[in-house]
Amino acid sequence: MFTVEKYSQNRKEGYEQLLKQARALLEDETSITANLANASALLNQFLPNINWVGFYEYEELSDQLVLGPFQGLPACVRIPIGKGVCGTAAKEQKTLVVDDVHQFPGHIACDAASQSEIVVPIVKDGQLFGVLDIDSPEKGRFDQTDQEWLEKFVDELNKHI
Ligand code: SME
Repeated sequence: MFTVEKYSQNRKEGYEQLLKQARALLEDETSITANLANASALLNQFLPNINWVGFYEYEELSDQLVLGPFQGLPACVRIPIGKGVCGTAAKEQKTLVVDDVHQFPGHIACDAASQSEIVVPIVKDGQLFGVLDIDSPEKGRFDQTDQEWLEKFVDELNKHI
């Protein structure tokens, strides 16, 4: 059974707790869907002030990102590579932190509440696997510390997908 933890107020300590929980949650499971689903649920428990967290998986045949496990409102299913924040992060294979999504050219609005966003690409063995996408109803919600730790989170997840 999963027990809900009270995370440390210190962000570094909180993120360390999160990574420890992620390791424990993912290490014995080989189902990619199960691990992505639990990873999105864990992030949803841990991160304050977010309204959407989840994954898009790369589909080579269509060269698109396709909606994967997530927490939040139903979202757009397919995003072409190079489009929106997700498609751009996937194309450039680098993390994008967007302080105000309304200023991002081509931003794809799935939930009208979203004001800022972070997208971390997931690259496995040199191949694009997909992206982790997190939206917040608050402008400028994500900073360098979030980027650093969410990239570590994706590195951990990468071992279990
Ligand atoms: N805003 C994203 C689309 C996905 S939703 O936020 C869940 C984008 O511009 O790529």
